[in-house]
Amino acid sequence: MYPIDLLPSPFHIFNDALWVMQSLYASRRVSNELHPVPADFDVNLHTNTGFLPPRPLPKLQKPFDVWEDALSQAQKVLKLGEDLPEEHAEERTEGELWRQRIRSLPTLTTETLHQEPQLLRRAHKVLAFLVHFYIHSIPPDTRNGSQSILVPLSLSAPIIAVSRVLRIAPVLTFADTVLWNWDLVDPKQPATIENMRFGQELFSGTEDERNFYLGSARAELIGVQMLHIFNDYHNLPNVTDLSSISKINRLLARLTTVIQEINASVQSMRQIVDPHVFYWEVRPWFNGSGSGSGPSAPVWIYEGVDDTSKLDLSGPSAGQSSVMHALDLFFDIDHKLRQRRYPAPSDANKHADRGFMERMRRYMPGKHRDYLAYIAEYPRPVREVAQNTPAIREAYNTAVTTLKKLRDSHMRIACLYVVTMSRSTNATCGLSDVCDGEENGEGSGQVRTSDWNRRGTSSRYYSRPGEMRLHALF
Ligand code: HEM
Repeated sequence: MYPIDLLPSPFHIFNDALWVMQSLYASRRVSNELHPVPADFDVNLHTNTGFLPPRPLPKLQKPFDVWEDALSQAQKVLKLGEDLPEEHAEERTEGELWRQRIRSLPTLTTETLHQEPQLLRRAHKVLAFLVHFYIHSIPPDTRNGSQSILVPLSLSAPIIAVSRVLRIAPVLTFADTVLWNWDLVDPKQPATIENMRFGQELFSGTEDERNFYLGSARAELIGVQMLHIFNDYHNLPNVTDLSSISKINRLLARLTTVIQEINASVQSMRQIVDPHVFYWEVRPWFNGSGSGSGPSAPVWIYEGVDDTSKLDLSGPSAGQSSVMHALDLFFDIDHKLRQRRYPAPSDANKHADRGFMERMRRYMPGKHRDYLAYIAEYPRPVREVAQNTPAIREAYNTAVTTLKKLRDSHMRIACLYVVTMSRSTNATCGLSDVCDGEENGEGSGQVRTSDWNRRGTSSRYYSRPGEMRLHALF
């Protein structure tokens, strides 16, 4: 069992009675100071799109349209370099011509975009797709054994510049593939899941890739209800009178339902994304610097950047979804195992990669990271309120337990799509012990060793040998 940060049940009737008395007379009120609203953090509650922008991103105009053109071309001609043996001479040549054109593009300055948030996001997305297309279309045997790949200045300079303004990693992120990767079926209608088309840009061109983005986006959009609930909680005049307590209970019950809906959405991936296509055709495009094909995976050098090793270049992961981080922070889930919590962490979890979720925040747009900091610093943390208020504990514990169930079932999906598929080519898979259990629904939650295989189980999560966890702790 691993820690889920539950609150102990109230034992003494006396305490409960005392609490009721206290609550009747309580007058603890939040300060009347103005506090920020979600819109200040690019969190869109008015359009119910949450961390997604209210409208699709417009395409870039001159002179940046050269990037748009290169991206359209890439989707037509490029294939994974690993899938291009020497016999595929024509496709190899086409790929090399595309990369030559990228190298000969002018190095554009991006100042004119800096005051235009929608265009800046589009620029980040287009450039990030170009970087990943550039790197992963290179056939490995043409690298002459080199351990590094140079990202040309025409891409490296502008992506670094726009990433600085957006305060996001200069690489493909969850924002590029999901939050900013949609348009409207009917542009006159609002941005609802029914009226949104995901996967505006695709690497593999497969419906499975499109559905992978769609499934992740669905979880984000379900998460908007959660953001409203946080807002309602934050706007409570106090957390101690009987009416507020009953409202908090209702809010926690609604949150539990939202988490169950996110779980159902994660499960629905099985119907719409084929594990084999995902593992062999989609996921390799996501690999970042130094991750993918085992210890020999090349590191990326960004031309013109003094020390590329200081950049965050892992690539996208739903671990970068602000919705999931917001849930963790709202409940005060202790990923880093800094607090004494109940039940205590297992020995294996003590050795887990505790910094994963924190690192993933560097891949979010800066304003979303600020929103998370705002949730974390809110003066009336719900865990503390539940700790001091026996009548709320059960609802709190139920919500946290439901979040744990979500992570357990997500673990099973990850095992099916990554571990089982890595076995499908006799690749050595060190995760087998735990995934055998996970696939059978036993769910120990522990990942016991590193997993290096040809298609690259991501190095960012299973990055070092020894015991690690695949999903986060509660
Ligand atoms: C076919 C579907 C999916 C697969 C194969 C998958 C696989 C993975 C893998 C392998 C990781 C480990 C880190 C990494 O390499 O990025 C991960 C992390 C994560 N994924 Fe997924 N995932 C899927 C869908 C989703 C969806 C729809 C969500 C949305 C809720 C989600 C949320 C997360 C989160 C929050 C993490 C960070 C670790 C954690 O909090 O447990 N995943 N996923």
